[in-house]
Amino acid sequence: MEWPEWSPDVVVAATDGSDGSLRAAHVAASIAKNNNSKLIIITVVRPPEGWWGIGGAPPTATALAKALDDAQHGVLDLTVKDLDTEGIEVQTVEELGDPAATIIGFCSEVEADLLVVGKRGAGLIERFVMGSVADRLSHYAHCPVLVVP
Ligand SMILES: Nc1ncnc2c1ncn2[C@@H]1O[C@H](COP(=O)(O)OP(=O)(O)OP(=O)(O)O)[C@@H](O)[C@H]1O
Ligand SMILES: [Mg+2]
Repeated sequence: MEWPEWSPDVVVAATDGSDGSLRAAHVAASIAKNNNSKLIIITVVRPPEGWWGIGGAPPTATALAKALDDAQHGVLDLTVKDLDTEGIEVQTVEELGDPAATIIGFCSEVEADLLVVGKRGAGLIERFVMGSVADRLSHYAHCPVLVVP
């Protein structure tokens, strides 16, 4: 069987602002540049349960929305800051929800040809294995996934 040449039109990098995700974004940007692909950088914020602690008053909807918005902007700014994306189209996306499920749905929606993620993220637990988001993405995404150590 003859396989068509693989050449990505759309490359997605998922970032949570961690060092691993910054390395992943760097790899994604290089691949996008070399293939003249569109680069989409996505961050997903999970609304933290019990964010306000036991017995505290829940934040107002506006306060919560603003806190999430600030967090997402911070992560995206940090990720894009040092990327070399000269000559390619770059889009940044913020979503709210479960990170792995949201990223998988997004990649299908934009017909991503490649998803690039870090092996680890901003989670506080030191692991020998990859993080749970990277693990789920590599198992369930509908497109090729590149996991950057
Ligand atoms: N909220 C998120 N939005 C976008 N990308 C994410 C998000 N969380 C993780 N990722 C991507 O997945 C990679 C691995 O992160 P992951 O969350 O799996 O590891 P971890 O934080 O070390 O472990 P865990 O979250 O399981 O405690 C990150 O480098 C990033 O590319
Ligand atoms: Mg994590």
